[in-house]
Amino acid sequence: MNILYIGSGFVGACSATVSADSGHQTLVFDVDKRKIELLSSGDRDTIQSCLFEEGLGDLIIRNQDKIKFTTDYNQVVDFLDDCDAIFMCLPTPEIGETGESDLSFYFTAAKKLAQSLLERNQNRQTKYIVLVNKSTVPVDMVDKTQEMMEKVGVKNFGVVSNPEFLVEGKAIQGSLHPDRVVVGAWQEKDFKVMRQIYQRFVNAANIQYVEVNPKEAAAGKLLANFTLFNKLAVCFDVIGRTCETFSDLSFENLRKILITDPRIGSWGLYDSLYAGGSCFIKDARSLAHQLQTAGQNATLVNETYLANKRQLELFLGRAEKEAKFDWTGKIVALLGLAFKQGTNDTRNSPSIDIVHFLLEKQVGEIRCYDPAAIEWFEKIFTESKQIKYFKSENEAVSGAQAVIIATDWPQFRGLGDLLVRSKNKPLIMDGRRMLAHQYHELQKSGFDVIAVGSQSIFKK
Ligand SMILES: NC(=O)c1ccc[n+]([C@@H]2O[C@H](COP(=O)([O-])OP(=O)(O)OC[C@H]3O[C@@H](n4cnc5c(N)ncnc54)[C@H](O)[C@@H]3O)[C@@H](O)[C@H]2O)c1
Repeated sequence: MNILYIGSGFVGACSATVSADSGHQTLVFDVDKRKIELLSSGDRDTIQSCLFEEGLGDLIIRNQDKIKFTTDYNQVVDFLDDCDAIFMCLPTPEIGETGESDLSFYFTAAKKLAQSLLERNQNRQTKYIVLVNKSTVPVDMVDKTQEMMEKVGVKNFGVVSNPEFLVEGKAIQGSLHPDRVVVGAWQEKDFKVMRQIYQRFVNAANIQYVEVNPKEAAAGKLLANFTLFNKLAVCFDVIGRTCETFSDLSFENLRKILITDPRIGSWGLYDSLYAGGSCFIKDARSLAHQLQTAGQNATLVNETYLANKRQLELFLGRAEKEAKFDWTGKIVALLGLAFKQGTNDTRNSPSIDIVHFLLEKQVGEIRCYDPAAIEWFEKIFTESKQIKYFKSENEAVSGAQAVIIATDWPQFRGLGDLLVRSKNKPLIMDGRRMLAHQYHELQKSGFDVIAVGSQSIFKK
C-alpha cells in the first residue's frame, strides 16, 4: 500500500518506519527541515541524534527503498494520486493552562491537505483514501475532521481513529510488538483498509487487534493515559509520601508487598520527583477539560494532575526545610535532563523547572549532564556563566555542593561509588531513588541525603 505520514516526530517517524518494514511504500512529510535532513541521512547515529530511539536508525536504513522523508510538499501532492491512507501525527499540546488541546498544528496540516485531496486524480478524486488520526485528540475529533474535509469538497474518503500507545525510549520495540492496535471507524470499508495496513498485527499472537468506533478509540487513548498517570500519582503522593513521613519504612520493601498482588501490578511503582513527558500531563488536562465542558467536575482527574505537580516543589523544598541548605551561590550538579531514561525528549522534563528554581535561588553554577539530551536542553537554556554543560556525570559532580538526580538513567546507579571517592561531600538530592542501595553507606561516609520516598538521611 502507499501510505503518507504527516509529522515525523516520535510517533510519525517510528510508526512510518514500521509501516515501511511492513512492506508499504511510505512517504513522511514534515515542515522541520533539520529533522528531515537527519532522518534522511542514511546514518544510524545521525538518525538517532534526532530521535533517540533504539533500533530506529537500523530499521530506517534496512527499509531505505520503502521510506522517504521530505519537506517538499510537491512530493506529497504527487503521492496522493495513488495513496491509500494518510496518518496524521501532529502535535496536540495544551493551550496555555486551559486543558484544551491546541489543534492548530493538526488543522493547519489538514487544511493544506484538503486542498491537495480535492485535486487528486486530476480533480476527479477517484481513489478512495483513509485519513487516520494518530495524534492524541479529543473524543469527537473524527467528526470534526470529517466535517472539515466535506466542507471543502473532499470526496471518496473515510476518517479513522488509530491512537498511538508507544512508550518513548522503547518506541521501535513497542511498535514492532505492540500490546494492542486500536482502530476506530464507522464503516467496514475503513476497517478493511486498516486491516490491510496492519496485516502483520491482525491475528498475531500476543497482540490484541481491537476494532471499535472512532470515539471509543480516541477516548480509550485518553483513559489509558489517565489510568497510568493516576497510578504514578498514587505512587509519588501516597506511597512515597508515607515512606517520607514515618520512620523505618523502606520504599523498596513496601513496593515488594504491593506488587506481589497481581491486581496492583508492578508498573509505575517507582518513586519520582515528577512524571514529565509530552503525554500524561496534557492528556489528563484534555480529559478534564472535555469532562468539565460537558458539565462534569472531573475532580479525580484534576487532583491527579495536581498531585504530580506538587511533587517537584515538595522535593526541592526539603533541602532548605530539612537540611537547612542555603542554595545561594552554591555549585549544583544537575544529573539527567531528559524527562526519563532512554530518550532525548525534554518536554515537561522536571529539570526545566529545577533550573528555573535554582536560578531563582541565585545559585552560583548549575553543572548539567545527560547522556542523550544535552543538545535539546541547550535549546531551552543556552550555556552561560551560571549554566554549564559537561560530558560525564564525573565532571559535572566535581566540586559540586549539591547533586540533584533528576532522571533515572541506569548509569546513575553507580554514582554513589564516585561520590564516596570525591573529596567534598555535596548534599545528595535523589529524585529517582537511584542510590537507594547505598543511602546508609553514603550517610556513614559523611553525606546528607534527601531522597523521594525516604525520610532525610543525615550524616552521623
Ligand atoms: N511522544 C509520545 O510518546 C506519544 C505517544 C502516543 C501518542 N502521542 C501523540 O502523538 C502526537 C504526536 O506526538 P509526537 O511526540 O510525535 O510529537 P512531536 O512534536 O515529536 O512531532 C510532531 C511533528 O509534527 C511536525 N509538524 C508540525 N506541524 C506540521 C505541519 N503543518 N505539517 C507537517 N508536519 C508538521 C513537527 O515538526 C514535528 O516534527 C501527539 O498528539 C501526541 O500526544 C505521542
